Amino acid sequence: MDKKDLFNIAKDAMKHSCASYSNYNVGAALLCKNGNLYKGCNIENASYSLTNCAERTAIFTAIANGEKEFEAICIVGGKNGVITDYAMPCGACRQVLSEFCDAEFKVYVGTDENNINEFKLADLLPYSFDKSKLGE
Ligand code: THU
Repeated sequence: MDKKDLFNIAKDAMKHSCASYSNYNVGAALLCKNGNLYKGCNIENASYSLTNCAERTAIFTAIANGEKEFEAICIVGGKNGVITDYAMPCGACRQVLSEFCDAEFKVYVGTDENNINEFKLADLLPYSFDKSKLGE
């Protein structure tokens, strides 16, 4: 499973996006360290703030299926499903990913399978709120 595969799976996940309000469709493909894969899409709601982003859909689905360790995610998105730019994860999703993924977790964003950028989660969310501060 390489980044091109993940890109194509994220693109496939984007087909399920429910984006009637923004018409900005997003898909995500999350790879677990054990090789399992979970797809996610954005799911909008008439009560706008209840919208769930594609990355959170993917990681919540994985967690709900018992997954604990994560390797990488690829995110794609575009207005009316047309990918013209990189779909960088929003701040809320970066925080949620940081709860369950380590600093080396890879975030891929691409415009096509031959143009994929790679980031480390720690670089996307420096100085993050850390659950260890809760003393758990
Ligand atoms: N969206 C995501 O799915 N992921 C992000 O990281 C940013 C935004 C979705 C939410 C909403 O349905 C649409 O994109 C426009 O903001």
